Amino acid sequence: MPLRIAVLPGDGIGAEVTAQAMKVIATIAECFHHEIVMREYPVGGVALETHGSPLPEETLSACQASDAVLFGAVGSPEHDDNPPPLKPEAALIQLRFRLGTFANLRPAVMHPALVACSPLRPERVQGTDILIVRELTGGLYTGDPRGIDATPRGRRGINTMAYDEGEIERIARIAFQFARQRRKKLTSVDKANMLEVSQLWREVVAHVSADYPDVEVEHLLVDNCAMQLVRRPRDFDVILTENIFGDILSEEVAAVLGSIGLLPSASIGDGVSLYEPVHGSAPDIRGKNLANPIGAIGSVALMFRYAFDLHREADHIESAIWRVLDRGYRTPDIARDGTPVSTEEMGDLICREIRQVARESSR
Ligand code: IPM
Ligand code: MG
Repeated sequence: MPLRIAVLPGDGIGAEVTAQAMKVIATIAECFHHEIVMREYPVGGVALETHGSPLPEETLSACQASDAVLFGAVGSPEHDDNPPPLKPEAALIQLRFRLGTFANLRPAVMHPALVACSPLRPERVQGTDILIVRELTGGLYTGDPRGIDATPRGRRGINTMAYDEGEIERIARIAFQFARQRRKKLTSVDKANMLEVSQLWREVVAHVSADYPDVEVEHLLVDNCAMQLVRRPRDFDVILTENIFGDILSEEVAAVLGSIGLLPSASIGDGVSLYEPVHGSAPDIRGKNLANPIGAIGSVALMFRYAFDLHREADHIESAIWRVLDRGYRTPDIARDGTPVSTEEMGDLICREIRQVARESSR
């Protein structure tokens, strides 16, 4: 049976970085003799223009029928003034919701060769290795009531942060399981000094933690966490948090590591899983062959690991990325030193390194 990947390149640099990720998939298929079928579908602003919807029915059903989804990015200035359901971003929120991918894994590792790209001093940032486990289908993004209402005092905007115990428990269990495989430290992030939803979050996480006595747990308020991530990023192992706190903190962590272009993500749940770089569509550099494809290619590694259970293939991709960085190749976002390369060149270098690693390990 071939592995079927639905590919949704989307807007802006999404198409460019996804093209590199597809080359990597094809290279792995060739080196490891897998039959992999990739098919592209429209999403985001592109889909609005061709299909009148950011997430056409055909795209959604293709994703549901696939073994994994590779996603580029959505968002384009042309559609910024659309009503919320017709914004390109709505496609991603809908897709996550419809696929039930409630757990977003965002690994953030400081590559030793890139320490100079961090705005922090080397001794603070060296060795940073964090896994953000972000709840992805609840909270402010999907809570009701929502909208903009007319009132006698003028218009009023409203969104709702709501979680039920079951939603908190299932994401907490995922985070604890990952912590168990790592350094066994979990930081649960909330705003329990102000929000009832966070009080419940803290209570449920504390309750779940009883089943994982080998994992050390701390509860941090989100504002304090934002500060500690800059002061002592190395102390964090697994960060468990709700949807919007995770959205915000993951960009902070990206800045600590030097570039958001480096970060991959996996969104998993009960069914088909979704793989996308953490960065957005970056309209300012679209079509210029400048974007860093490492976040997208790292997401492919996560796809092989979590969707296909092919760990050797995943490890190969990650070591190829590391070796290319070790050898000094740099896209503009990380170009402090080394040899400047384009999006495509970076993709080609990583593919070449994958072939090399495969040859070495078959000897
Ligand atoms: C992310 C992005 C999305 C989010 C946007 C594009 C809807 O910022 O994946 O972090 O807010 O989740
Ligand atoms: Mg974000």
